[in-house]
Amino acid sequence: MKTVYLEEVDSTNLYAKRNLKNLSDKTVIHADVQTNGRGRLQRSWVDLGKGNLFLSFVLKPSENFNDKYSNLTQYLSVVLCKILEEYGLTPQIKWPNDVLINGKKIAGILCETVVQGNSLRGLILGIGVNLNAEPKSLEKITDKEVCSLNLEINRQVDKNGFMKKLTSAFFENYETFLSQGFDFIKNDYISRTNFLEKEICVQILNGQKCGLAKEINDKGELVLLENDKSYVLTIGDIL
Ligand code: BTN
Repeated sequence: MKTVYLEEVDSTNLYAKRNLKNLSDKTVIHADVQTNGRGRLQRSWVDLGKGNLFLSFVLKPSENFNDKYSNLTQYLSVVLCKILEEYGLTPQIKWPNDVLINGKKIAGILCETVVQGNSLRGLILGIGVNLNAEPKSLEKITDKEVCSLNLEINRQVDKNGFMKKLTSAFFENYETFLSQGFDFIKNDYISRTNFLEKEICVQILNGQKCGLAKEINDKGELVLLENDKSYVLTIGDIL
């Protein structure tokens, strides 16, 4: 694993994209300040100050896209939950990959794919974790409830220590995940979800879909039941 540290950058994901050619497989890019953080579904990721984590994994697993890569964000959400559990917390996963503590979002994960023609140039798996936010700065985020690790455990968090735990836990089982895919994490993922068997609405690209969250299938997709008809969702955001 190689590491690139940046004092300030627009976005660690964008940096990785711009420099992808020169970055080797399994490079980790992290920054103290992110001025244009990107989120899922065209949203932004707000910088809550230097003590928080902004990190991207640069991954070049093969020249062809494999469906298993779509589950990398879910793999990373499970890795993160296990680390947060070491701090005595009970994190939950909101499909597909938001990590929450007591219903409040502590981290966001975004995977971007770079392709050229038919060939996969790389995957950029970005994660932002609120590690040391001031209570006041959380007010900057108005569209959802958010939290930060320091405020949950009532002490400052050692950012470098946390980052080391996260990156080594990620790479410890990365190859196994690549060969087995979602099956490798299915139980760990499902046991941490907070929405199954509940009536939910999901923001999808062209609107909303509501129904009973029936299951997470073998591909990590969400199966919703509406009037006895089932719908398989591959992308979206539970509202
Ligand atoms: C989301 O929940 O919408 C995903 C947020 C992902 C944020 C991280 S911070 C590090 C990396 N760089 C970015 O610009 N985005 C990801």
